[in-house]
Amino acid sequence: MSEANNHGAMTIPALLAMKQRGERIAALTAYDASMARLADRAGVDLVLVGDSLGMVIQGHASTLPVRLEDVAYHTAAVRRGLERALLVADLPFLSYPDRESAFLAARRLIGECGAAMLKLEGAGYVIELVAALVEREVPVCGHLGLTPQSVLRLGGYRLQAREEDAQRRLAADALALVEAGISALVLECVPSELARRLARELPVPVIGIGAGPGCDGQILVSYDLLGISPGRRPRFCRDFLAGRGSVSEAFAAYVRAVKEGDFPSAAETLA
Ligand code: KIV
Repeated sequence: MSEANNHGAMTIPALLAMKQRGERIAALTAYDASMARLADRAGVDLVLVGDSLGMVIQGHASTLPVRLEDVAYHTAAVRRGLERALLVADLPFLSYPDRESAFLAARRLIGECGAAMLKLEGAGYVIELVAALVEREVPVCGHLGLTPQSVLRLGGYRLQAREEDAQRRLAADALALVEAGISALVLECVPSELARRLARELPVPVIGIGAGPGCDGQILVSYDLLGISPGRRPRFCRDFLAGRGSVSEAFAAYVRAVKEGDFPSAAETLA
């Protein structure tokens, strides 16, 4: 049985099959139809409408002000630009304090806007929500490590799980999310050996950002990749537009670099 759907589009089983055959997954954020179309045509496998839109589109200092309606607006736009890539939408800060709000958000982002999976940050109370969503046929992507919605507690955007204790806790959270039924896991800004081990041990695709080359795939904020985000470019990111003539070429170079294992390099690995 083919893992792609009738239109040749990416599916969740297709993503899992890529992990199983060792084919790296290239993922990117997008927020509008035109950029989504370019990413799709460049061969990006998964497009995320991240709540990073609060920073790169809306100009906020964090992702905290982003509303469910903002993600819905951008998800519907991105949907119109995609033919092949799997569309994932972020649940923004405190938009899912309980099951009912999580179900309504799923109804909005999947049922009305066309996402194929939702991404939720963190563990703790989120585990129970993930299980409830999955039970109702809502595919979920977890997100551990540097979770930007926790920036007030964390005090900034930096490498997480440096110490053994924190690594043990993160691994236990990842396992709990898998047991709750996630279909994929984003690991952000964690030591590369931890990410490599989790990618090897967990049965779901592990997609890294600032987590080294040992993950099943990589994701970047598209504006970082193009060198147009405000502020300093994160060390784990590469400006793929530099020396290239177009956004399409930059996206294609990113996909190639991920698939061939050229990205991230040692210099782009935090620890
Ligand atoms: O919001 C976002 O863009 C994200 C990615 C950085 C993974 O969560």
